[in-house]
This record gives sequence, C-alpha cells and structure tokens, in this order.
Amino acid sequence: MKIREISFSFKEYSGSELDNQDLNLINSAKAVAEKAYAPYSGFRVGAAVLLKSGTVVTGANVENAAFPTGICAERNALANAIVNYPGDQVITIAIAACTDDGFTKEFISPCGNCRQFIAEEEFRSASKIRIILSGEDKCIILDSAGSLLPLQFNKDNLRIALP
Ligand code: THU
Repeated sequence: MKIREISFSFKEYSGSELDNQDLNLINSAKAVAEKAYAPYSGFRVGAAVLLKSGTVVTGANVENAAFPTGICAERNALANAIVNYPGDQVITIAIAACTDDGFTKEFISPCGNCRQFIAEEEFRSASKIRIILSGEDKCIILDSAGSLLPLQFNKDNLRIALP
C-alpha cells in the first residue's frame, strides 16, 4: 500500500494587487452577475471568460421553477465561448457573485458540475485555464482548473476516440 498526496497552491490577492486585465475581467463578471435570473436563490453569479484573441464572453446563472433545470454562470459563459468562438482558446475565467446585499465578501468557488465542465475545456484545448475567484475582501487565482478537480474523469477514461 502506498499513500499518495495531491496538493496545489494558489495565489491570494487584495483587489488592489491585481493587474488591469484581471480587474477588467472581474468587472465583466460582476456586471453580468447583476443580469442573472435567480429569483429562487437570490444568489446571482457572473462568469467572464477571456479568450486568447482578447474577446471576453460572459454568462450568468439562469434558474428555473423546476430547480435542477437551471444553469450556472460558469457553464453558461463557457458554452457560449465554445460555440461562438470555435478555435479561440480559453485563457482565464473570472467568477463573482452578489445578493441584494451586494457582492460577496468571500469568493465563491465553482460547483462540481462546473469544475467538470471547465476541466473538459482545459483537457480539450490541452492548455491550462486560469481561474479567478473574486470576493470583495480578497480574490484568489488558480493556475489550472485541474487543481479544483483532482483525479478527474476525462475522455481518456472513456477509452474511445472522440473527435
Ligand atoms: N451557481 C452558479 O451559477 N455558479 C456556482 O459556481 C455556484 C452556484 C448558481 C446556481 C444557482 O442558480 C445559485 O447559484 C444558487 O446555488
């Protein structure tokens, strides 16, 4: 028997330490969060995806009376980027959330479904996706979605050749 460990590090910033490109992306995530349709949870999430071309694609959570039918901000933004900008590469995704009390002090982290979704894109493009989790008190930046989903299931596990 062997015991193996998985560890990862991430960077923690106060807002003023971030560079302009990251701040702009957070601001895009915040702006779209305000447009979320979240009447059931009151929790509005925004995600902004920066593509290699410089294009920024955004998405927010959209809820539904049949609760599981809703979609998270991250998957909304990523799906939009993948479908509308094929061939462009996802470099960074920034995530922010607000309620009627304003933007969350603590950063929020993507749900399990969204982690799997981001990991798929990272795997498909064979390049790491930076993840910025924005809170009013502090932001953290991860260099790769892989660290949020260790031992992930991916297309290699299917053992079939996908296009
Ligand atoms: N939500 C997101 O959009 N992204 C996350 O990373 C976590 C949760 C949404 C789903 C639901 O509409 C609301 O936040 C409350 O869970």
